[in-house]
Amino acid sequence: MWWEDAVVYEVYPRSFADADGDGVGDLPGLRSRLGYLADLGVDAIWLTPFYPSPLADGGYDVSDYCAIDPLLGTMADFDGLVKDAAGYQIRVIVDLVPNHCSSANPLFRAALGAVPGGPERARFFFRDGRGPHGEQPPNNWPSQFGGSAWTRVTEADGRHQGPDGAGQWYLHLFDTSQPDWDWRNPDVPALFEDVIGFWLDRGVAGLRVDVAHGIFKDPDLPDLAGRRPLNAPSPYRHRPELQPLYRSWRAILDSYPAAGFPGARTAIGEVWYDVPETLTPYLDPGGLPQVFNFQLILAGWRADEFRAAIDSALMLTGGSRAPWVIGNHDVARPASRYRLDDGFTPQTVSRLIALGDQNAGTGARRARAAALVLLALPGSAYIYQGEELGLPEVTAIADEARQDPRFFRTGGEYPGRDGCRVPIPWSRTGTGFGFSLTSQGAGPATPWLPMPAEWGRYSVEYQLADEHSTLNLYRAALRLRRGHPALGPGGLRWVGPREGGLLCFAREPGFILAANFGQAPAPLPAHREVLLASGPVTGGRLPPDTAAWLSA
Ligand code: GLC
Repeated sequence: MWWEDAVVYEVYPRSFADADGDGVGDLPGLRSRLGYLADLGVDAIWLTPFYPSPLADGGYDVSDYCAIDPLLGTMADFDGLVKDAAGYQIRVIVDLVPNHCSSANPLFRAALGAVPGGPERARFFFRDGRGPHGEQPPNNWPSQFGGSAWTRVTEADGRHQGPDGAGQWYLHLFDTSQPDWDWRNPDVPALFEDVIGFWLDRGVAGLRVDVAHGIFKDPDLPDLAGRRPLNAPSPYRHRPELQPLYRSWRAILDSYPAAGFPGARTAIGEVWYDVPETLTPYLDPGGLPQVFNFQLILAGWRADEFRAAIDSALMLTGGSRAPWVIGNHDVARPASRYRLDDGFTPQTVSRLIALGDQNAGTGARRARAAALVLLALPGSAYIYQGEELGLPEVTAIADEARQDPRFFRTGGEYPGRDGCRVPIPWSRTGTGFGFSLTSQGAGPATPWLPMPAEWGRYSVEYQLADEHSTLNLYRAALRLRRGHPALGPGGLRWVGPREGGLLCFAREPGFILAANFGQAPAPLPAHREVLLASGPVTGGRLPPDTAAWLSA
């Protein structure tokens, strides 16, 4: 299947390219840049949500699942995008957000206006509170963004409210504005079957399933007890009811003809986990074709951690069903993250802020090396927009400019995810560094998240002109990967000593990856030719924080 070794590029549409000059990226902007993605050499693009949304959580608060946010374009723009992308041999994957909708979704508005116990409320989790006046939330579940996972409503009918004027509570594992659907209510699976059919009918090649570990809850909604590791099984994570649901979705996917290309439609689940074995039930052969493995995001910058991370993911399935990824719109950018020696945690962004300018060069070098590891692994890989430019995490964002609900719900304790969502710089100079393609009236608006003054040197224009740029490294890697018989699905064999800072694996036929995580230059393993390197290789030695692709 095409997805078994596809390189998929994640597009955060509001930050990719802005065609109408309003400071917010849009579908026509993306459409106009498809040539760039074709030259980069990706097989597919995954678009994070572009649906109508109040944007309380970057579009993951969906008010209409089958429409386009007018800020981002029209359905005709979407259809044109799919068609043009197919012309470049690029498939389109869209984001499905089944755990929750927006509080602006008409079905939730109807629930708010309905009486407790009514059918409109039964699509969500409305419950009476605890305590003499129902003034305590129904259980102790926390929101992933901070605070309680419950919000109390004011009842429209005036009859059910407690003495303080408030009524029932509703569940939201994320922001208050993101009420969770109750998947045991038959309306909900039926609604999503329609949504899935709607996008498959429009020719999308796949779905990325948001919060795929969370959409079923223990019906008793029990309190969480004891220690609460972030992503371990709980009354709202990794429930057994998920597998039959995903088998039913797989049947829908498989019932669709190929979308303008040979090969079936796919779906990839976002499943966060504490231990990779948690992914096993999601890899049920009849379930979702793929789930992300986040091993390379969770691993620290050490050869043994990378090796263990890769081994544990390969033990599960190989990378074909659990694609590799070093970043996405939820985690600190690799070029900054690797300035620290340890893997990503919710504290990473705060630690980067505290680090100031230290180690910036190290992070950038390591991110280039990590890209060569990523793209040499067996199976499929995802690249998040801007990784190919080596964009750093933007840490200097004023509080007033921040958008992420995690920042607000933690009272600023967690700076949040805005720093990896800053718009893409296309040109060396100008307002928004070419992010806004056309000017309206007085010129393009300022971008929706501020772009740092030095963003021009990360721009596409600047990097295309520099043969050693990160962009040209990615382009060369993807070109080689496409043509090399060893760089598809399959397996790998570790080469050389297991101790020390050098990580080496071989893939057949005739390919070796070497990456130096150590402090000193390391001799390269026996090889015929250096195909590509993330930094200078001289005298057969690989400098620290550098990786090379070799032919054997
Ligand atoms: C996923 C998305 C993230 C979003 C959350 C709630 O983790 O990747 O951006 O905030 O779900 O929808």
